[in-house]
Amino acid sequence: MCGIVGYLGDKDSVPILLNGLRRLEYRGYDSAGIATIDGENVNVVKKKGKVSTLCTLVEDSPIRGSNGIGHTRWATHGEPNDVNAHPHLDHSGKLALVHNGIIENHNTLRQILSGNGITFKTETDTEVLVQLIGDIYEGGDISFEDAVQAALSEVVGAYGIVVVNADEPDKMIMARMGSPLVLGVGEGEYFVASDASPIIEHTRNVIYLDDGDMAIITRDGHNIKRIAENHNVTKQVERIEYNIEAIEKEGYDHFMLKEIHEQAHTITDTLRGRLKKDGYHAHLGGLADYINHIESTKMCYITACGTSWHAGLIGAYLLEEYAGMNVKVEYASELRYRKAMINPETVVIAVSQSGETADTLASVRKAKEAGALTVGICNVVGSTLARETDCGIYTHAGPEIGVASTKAFTSQIAVFMLMALQFGRQKGLSLAEAKGVSDALLNIGKHVQSLLDRSDEIYDIAEQFTGVNNFLYLGRGLNFPAALEGALKLKEISYIHAEGYPAAEMKHGPIALIDEKMPVVFLAPHDQTYEKVLANIQEVKARKGRIIAVTDRAENELIKLADHIIEVPRVHRVVFPILSTIPLQLLAYHMAVIRGCDVDQPRNLAKSVTVE
Ligand code: G6P
Repeated sequence: MCGIVGYLGDKDSVPILLNGLRRLEYRGYDSAGIATIDGENVNVVKKKGKVSTLCTLVEDSPIRGSNGIGHTRWATHGEPNDVNAHPHLDHSGKLALVHNGIIENHNTLRQILSGNGITFKTETDTEVLVQLIGDIYEGGDISFEDAVQAALSEVVGAYGIVVVNADEPDKMIMARMGSPLVLGVGEGEYFVASDASPIIEHTRNVIYLDDGDMAIITRDGHNIKRIAENHNVTKQVERIEYNIEAIEKEGYDHFMLKEIHEQAHTITDTLRGRLKKDGYHAHLGGLADYINHIESTKMCYITACGTSWHAGLIGAYLLEEYAGMNVKVEYASELRYRKAMINPETVVIAVSQSGETADTLASVRKAKEAGALTVGICNVVGSTLARETDCGIYTHAGPEIGVASTKAFTSQIAVFMLMALQFGRQKGLSLAEAKGVSDALLNIGKHVQSLLDRSDEIYDIAEQFTGVNNFLYLGRGLNFPAALEGALKLKEISYIHAEGYPAAEMKHGPIALIDEKMPVVFLAPHDQTYEKVLANIQEVKARKGRIIAVTDRAENELIKLADHIIEVPRVHRVVFPILSTIPLQLLAYHMAVIRGCDVDQPRNLAKSVTVE
């Protein structure tokens, strides 16, 4: 989704802004632009396409200024073109603004402003906002910040904005309602961004704005106030714990490949300090005050979007099986609008890598309104989800930059395993069972590494399928969500149509698609469903489908049927979804690279979907 960056200090803002925009590229965008205040002038350069195109443009016609804002746009209102790209100016040309989110009453405001004689240059909702601020500012005896505050009081919708004004070259104003903004506090300089990635190389000291906050920043200091209540608030400066290396490729061709490889340690990072070797039980400090409430709940919802929803499906299997909990999994986009039976006795677990997904946050807010206990499983420290839920667990997988989620997924599964163990032990899960799962988890790093070391083997398989247009992924039980995730990875980055199904459902439809052109990926561990999955494999074979089987033991029957077998280490059956995910991520990755796709920034996709 759109990205925001801003700088106010003594240095020239342009290289800082352009570099910041490069850091934000991962979020997904279709145009980019910057604006600087230089003396009495506002300079704007913006362009459809990549940040590199913008950089060339700035090199050809340089601008400068120590107060500047920048933006990567992911079009919502108005097509992606040069004119609709941000920053946008007001009618006087003095105010420049960048905006993430959607102004829902932009049509009404546009009509009112047109009536005041304002002519619009773009189709965007954002221009409406800057024109509104400008109209209020120019029209009366009112300060810049009061004009921003007054305009925001008339706006319905979601926004994260940064606005600068040529009349006040030493001031920058930022405000948030629904779209995250972070303020980086340097030595006599400030950095603003929609997430910490453009800030981290300059300072680790940050302030997270809450919804309804606005910050007035000058070179000498900052003041944060509540927009509606009109009083000042003091916010703690927090420290970002990760290093700049965490958001660099470090020799890998793509962030996604780096993040796939990081799983040899990220899953262990998730478990660290939480899984006790001696007593074979887990301890999740973030839930400490709510353990009894959660494990005794009559109804637990897990809600999420995309890959996180797949982790939630696996979580439900685990919590049901090990902790005897009654769990429903809902897409957050559905839960937020349905008449779900959420009440003070319900527990709602929201899963999100970014902690900023609009639908997931809306579901959490709905649950809180209904009095439910909300639990966040989240990767980004300090994100909105982490701050708005009653309690939660960080996945500690480190920054995930590739749009297609990889390491966050396996860490989310690890968190659910910890939850299942902790609640399970309290509810009578035997020591032997707990020990089996714990041992498997404690050794997972080396098994993941052994799979990563076989990346070339997966490449060879990928090479044989790059011309196909469809793929089917099948699995049962815990491996059904893993099949869904395998299919999602492939379609996201290689643009090959791929579907995941519970293996037994194949007969109820997908079997009609099977012919010699249709590859089917089977997740076939030797658990209680193995024979049944094998029967499905035979059915595909009989119809000349091409079979890729991921299994934990390649026995003769399977060897006869499958065109390709990927054998993963034979460990406990509950960790099979984690282990099988690694080759499926690599398969998607290699297919996408061979097909020449932009792996880290797949078309039309955004890393963090902060609008509905
Ligand atoms: C987008 C991303 C996916 C992600 C989903 C949910 O669609 O492209 O990779 O799984 O959002 O994001 P979240 O941050 O809430 O896990």
